[in-house]
Amino acid sequence: MSLLPFSQACENNKAPILEVISQVFSSSSLILEIGTGTAQHAVHFAPALPHLTWQTSDQACYLDGIEAQLEFVRSQGAQHTDPIDNIQSPLILDVTQTWPLGELQKEIDGIFTANTLHIMAKEMVEAFFIGVGKHLRTGGSLCIYGPFNYNGNYTSDSNARFDVWLAQQDNRSAIRDIEWIAELAETQGLRLIEDHEMPANNRLLNFKKLN
Ligand SMILES: C[S@@+](CC[C@H](N)C(=O)[O-])C[C@H]1O[C@@H](n2cnc3c(N)ncnc32)[C@H](O)[C@@H]1O
Repeated sequence: MSLLPFSQACENNKAPILEVISQVFSSSSLILEIGTGTAQHAVHFAPALPHLTWQTSDQACYLDGIEAQLEFVRSQGAQHTDPIDNIQSPLILDVTQTWPLGELQKEIDGIFTANTLHIMAKEMVEAFFIGVGKHLRTGGSLCIYGPFNYNGNYTSDSNARFDVWLAQQDNRSAIRDIEWIAELAETQGLRLIEDHEMPANNRLLNFKKLN
């Protein structure tokens, strides 16, 4: 069996994130996740939200890991009390390319992404919002989890250190300002309606698509 991708941060944050998104997505039917990564979030959230379908996606190099994670949970079969029948196999989706959604795009009434906007270069973040504006239905919700700044100020010393580390990995990555994110969202018809404080100096931003 291939080694499953694992993130300790996902283990720590999945329960608090679920608490918020189970409210936000309470009447949603199809959620598109951007940057599914290890799929630990998907396999934790989907069984707790059986009324909806969770569509995973990521850049091509993450697909094998996501498939392996889904396969592992499915192989648990009867031992796994929470079936993941409502998770869809990953799409290859790079936000800077055409989003390969086909017929799905008529139905997407929720988009979720975690820990992605500080990894993406600025142009990728802009492309992300253009894609959200194009593919999320009017009235739908966008939830973004991760670290953010306010007017260029860090919310903690640990986030400041994390930003230095990010720049060392890739100088196009950086913790983004909430104000810039909210502005980009507005250009695509989305309004920031909730800004939740989350453990470990993270935020969960909830946007509504107004038109
Ligand atoms: C730090 S990982 C987060 C993964 C997972 N969501 C989590 O919370 O652990 C960053 C994710 O952003 C995704 N990402 C970065 N650039 C992207 C792009 N241009 N299009 C789509 N996803 C991208 C990566 O592929 C990766 O899955």
